[in-house]
This record gives sequence, C-alpha cells and structure tokens, in this order.
Amino acid sequence: MSNVGKSTNILWHESSIQKLDRQQLLQQKGCVIWVTGLSGSGKSTLACALSRSLHSRGKLTYILDGDNVRHGLNKDLSFGAEDRSENIRRIGEVAKLFADAGIICITSLISPYQKDRDACRELLPKGDFIEVFLNVPLHVCEARDPKGLYKLARAGKIKGFTGVDDPYEPPCNSEIVLQQKGSDCASPVDMAETVISYLEENGYLGA
Ligand SMILES: Nc1ncnc2c1ncn2[C@@H]1O[C@H](COP(=O)(O)OP(=O)(O)O)[C@@H](O)[C@H]1O
Ligand SMILES: [Mg+2]
Repeated sequence: MSNVGKSTNILWHESSIQKLDRQQLLQQKGCVIWVTGLSGSGKSTLACALSRSLHSRGKLTYILDGDNVRHGLNKDLSFGAEDRSENIRRIGEVAKLFADAGIICITSLISPYQKDRDACRELLPKGDFIEVFLNVPLHVCEARDPKGLYKLARAGKIKGFTGVDDPYEPPCNSEIVLQQKGSDCASPVDMAETVISYLEENGYLGA
C-alpha cells in the first residue's frame, strides 16, 4: 500500500496482458510524438498528415490536439501559466497511457515551456518520447494567422499570447527539428515523411 499525491492506501494492480503483448498484436511500438511550436506553425496539420500516412501503412495512431482536449478533459483550464502547465501535464499523462496501449500517440500543442515538455519526457521510457520542434519563425506564423489570433493579441484583445506577450522557449534537445529552407516551408506530407523515417530507423514501426 502506498500514498501517491492526495491518494492514500492505493495499490498498483498488474494485468497479465502487458505493453509487449499489445505491441505484438499491433506490430508496432507505442510511443509519443510530441509536436511543439508556435501557434500557426503547422502542428495540427503535421499531426493529421502523420496520422493519415501511418494509418495507410496499417499503424494505429491517435492525436491529442491541444485545442481538442480543451473541449473536454481540459475544459476547466485557462491559458494562465499555471493552467497551461496543468494542461500539458494532463496531456502528457494521457499520452503515456496511449503509448502503454501500444499506440503511436501524436500530441500537437504549443507547449511553450521547456520544463513542462521535459516533465512529460520523464514520464516515458527512454526513447519513447520523440519531440518534434516545428521551427517556423514568428513572422511566418503571424502572416498565416488562420484563426486571427495574432491580430487579436497584437490589438491587446488576447493577453498572454505565446510569441506576442508570453514566451516560447525553443527546445534544445528535440529528436527532430523541422524548419524552413530559405523561404520555403516543406509540405506537411514531406514533414510527416521525415518523422516516419525516424520511427522506421528506431524500430517503432515493428514489434
Ligand atoms: N507545411 C506547411 N506549409 C505551409 N502552410 C502550412 C504548413 N502547415 C500548416 N500550414 C498552414 O498554416 C496554418 C496553421 O496550421 P495549423 O496546423 O493550424 O497550426 P497550429 O496547429 O500549429 O496552430 C494553416 O492555415 C495551415 O494550412
Ligand atoms: Mg493546432
């Protein structure tokens, strides 16, 4: 029996079916592909391209998109610093469960702070947290502004907007960095291919 956080007298119950058994069934390895970058950098687009491409190869994926999770599990959280951290912590914990289920879990959320990303990395077995930094400059994201959020932030109508009046801490230890070459941004499908090559080379597409 042990106490964990505010839970007292709890005991972990093992199942006879383990992660390895599920991976065998799925013929893949469960992992978390953590896509981070500014708003408008293309995280959701990349997540969808990646999911589609892996799906067509017979691989089971699930996307945890920041905005989508805020429709349900995290709808009680704001964009204040503390709630942003809690948003990321919960998504990290859910992603860990998906990875344990044998699924290739793709998260797409800004996750601006290094310490929050690193805390999620620590939840996973070594190698199973694959950070993808979508390194798209602020001016490109701002020019895209598909939801008009930068415009609102510049007008002071949204406070604490990442890149405008809240910091984005660029990752220094990402497994994969996707960035512009000159003035061109690789297509989402090409970016997805880069991630898939990494998964292939590191044995995640087989059991
Ligand atoms: N690789 C890319 N090249 C050019 N435009 C892109 C690319 N990826 C996404 N976009 C466009 O950028 C905008 C923001 O993409 P989105 O995936 O919603 O970003 P995020 O989820 O990071 O906020 C969309 O209008 C999308 O069509
Ligand atoms: Mg998005």
